[in-house]
Amino acid sequence: MPRKTRAVIDLCALLHNYDAMSSLAPDSQQVVVIKADAYGNGAVKVAQTLASQVSMFAVAFLDEVYELRQAGITQEILVLQGPYDKSECLLTDELNVVWMLHNHSQVSMVHHAIQEAHIIKCNHWLKFDTGMHRLGLMPKEFNEYQRDFPLLFNERTVIATHLSAADEPAKDSCSVQLARFSTMLASTSYKLSIANSAANIHLDKARKHWNRMGISLFGSSPFEGNEIKPDLKPVMRLLSQVIAIREIEVGESVGYGDTWVAKRATSIATVAIGYADGYPRHAPIGTPALFNGQRAGLVGRVSMDMLTFDVTDIKDITLGMEVELWGKNLAINEIASHVGTIGYELMTRISKRVPRVYIGECRE
Ligand SMILES: Cc1ncc(COP(=O)(O)O)c(C=O)c1O
Repeated sequence: MPRKTRAVIDLCALLHNYDAMSSLAPDSQQVVVIKADAYGNGAVKVAQTLASQVSMFAVAFLDEVYELRQAGITQEILVLQGPYDKSECLLTDELNVVWMLHNHSQVSMVHHAIQEAHIIKCNHWLKFDTGMHRLGLMPKEFNEYQRDFPLLFNERTVIATHLSAADEPAKDSCSVQLARFSTMLASTSYKLSIANSAANIHLDKARKHWNRMGISLFGSSPFEGNEIKPDLKPVMRLLSQVIAIREIEVGESVGYGDTWVAKRATSIATVAIGYADGYPRHAPIGTPALFNGQRAGLVGRVSMDMLTFDVTDIKDITLGMEVELWGKNLAINEIASHVGTIGYELMTRISKRVPRVYIGECRE
């Protein structure tokens, strides 16, 4: 029997999360962000599952568009980093992409391509930097952009910005960014886009014509900790199995570097997943996993293909027992906090050698 390590992707949970998140913003349209292979959940399957409800998907760069088109996804795809060069720009109509233009050279290139009739689509997005200081045009140049690139400003244009700390409601940077954005827009009536998942959940002023939602659709809270409102359901369950069990005595060590030493007679279970599968190598001693619903802590270093757990207190431990590394019974954010990272990173890093198994294709 082949290795049972797998990421089980629950498409009913995805649909549930989409409904829950969209119902927070009934007056908005939702762009579903499926970059990085839909945060590791499988962009094609996620897009197919949501296709009947979603009119626009988003990816980070053009290369991520191809497999979606090959799989027959026909919705417009927003490319969040805009075109990298002219050759990409010239594919606008053929690939039915909408660019999020974030710098002067992109704006000028796309405007020129429309002017010269090299491309027809002109419903692009312009991103303004209201405080994240990563990508975006400068708000003080908003009027000059409208004057110099008139073909990019029409009733379908979307003016966007990205919030730097929407996931930290206690900070006031969101209000500063929102104020700068509205000052810049003055009395214009363009369509707007501000909110990501976190902002869609708690910042009603950020819900505009289009919201851009990623992590929440995969059931992981964008906020620190596991408190999830609305009620989101984890989409990915990372599962593996016990492939060896041994009893070791006090003073014996486990794993590379002898970093963990038994303080009591200990049962060790070896689990068939490691850092080559995307499980974080820096997961510390004590990082939990579920054995038949019971928690055990990681001991020893994470190896390329294996993990070791202290299962002394686990009842009925057996070879082949299923192990949940994260998922519906063990929140990914809890694992992330042990490792010192975020659920986004854990999800996106699950490697190709972990098969994605799809369940719950209830509305396809
Ligand atoms: C520009 C932009 N908008 C929206 C999103 C979606 O954010 P989230 O996954 O937090 O909903 C991202 C994700 O990184 C992004 O880069």
